[in-house]
Amino acid sequence: MRITLTTLQKMAQESSRIAMLTCYDASFAAVLEEAGVDALLVGDSLGNVLQGHESTLPVTLRDMVYHTQCVARGSKRAFVIADMPFATFQVSPQDAFHNAAELMAAGAHMVKIEGGRPMLDTIEFLTDRGIPVCGHLGLTPQSVHALGGYRVQGRGEDAGQQLIKEAKMLEQAGAGMIVLEAIPAALAGAVTEALAIPTIGIGAGVDCSGQVLVLHDMLDVYPGRKAKFVKNFMRTTGTIQGAVELYVKEVKARTFPGPEHSF
Ligand code: KIV
Repeated sequence: MRITLTTLQKMAQESSRIAMLTCYDASFAAVLEEAGVDALLVGDSLGNVLQGHESTLPVTLRDMVYHTQCVARGSKRAFVIADMPFATFQVSPQDAFHNAAELMAAGAHMVKIEGGRPMLDTIEFLTDRGIPVCGHLGLTPQSVHALGGYRVQGRGEDAGQQLIKEAKMLEQAGAGMIVLEAIPAALAGAVTEALAIPTIGIGAGVDCSGQVLVLHDMLDVYPGRKAKFVKNFMRTTGTIQGAVELYVKEVKARTFPGPEHSF
């Protein structure tokens, strides 16, 4: 049976950890589901790991629609989330709706939007019209140049309180889930505690409702620089299936991420 947003929200309420990975094609969708991954994120990280760009900024809506279609065709069980790429949701809620609708028609069950307070109207507009939205706070890669690089966010009392406030505002605007990227583990725990919706961490410590990693990072096939929060699951397993099964097992058992992968 298909995992839905309700399933994931119930898992979070019952403290049963959600295992998510990025996925960009039909074959991997089947492999990841078989290994027990609950949710597949068609991430705009495909700009880095598939297209070889230095950032996610060149990724287009057409790219995202194509890869969402591929993942949706290969998937039978997992919840599928598609990233809204740069410049497809920031200008107006109406534009965002039309662009999100293309991703939903391509097979997504939810769209993900980077950003906090400036995105509230758009999140409300989309969710009021039947499009589930996942927020994304902390390190938001589409803002890499504004942030001055891929840096840990939310450090210090003021920045931490601000992030908690924005997470609550996103939830109130209708977000059904929030990705927390590269923030201190204690802060991610406090955000998770403050919300009823699931939080999915990447470089955000173990106290989130679930975890996500970029598939090519955890399989160690991406030749670029690895963030501290990435673990190579191929090292001890040697097969893709084994690596993904181990990832799911460690996320569910809360043994990944360890302190060495956290800030
Ligand atoms: O695009 C992506 O893969 C993401 C994850 C880093 C959460 O947004």
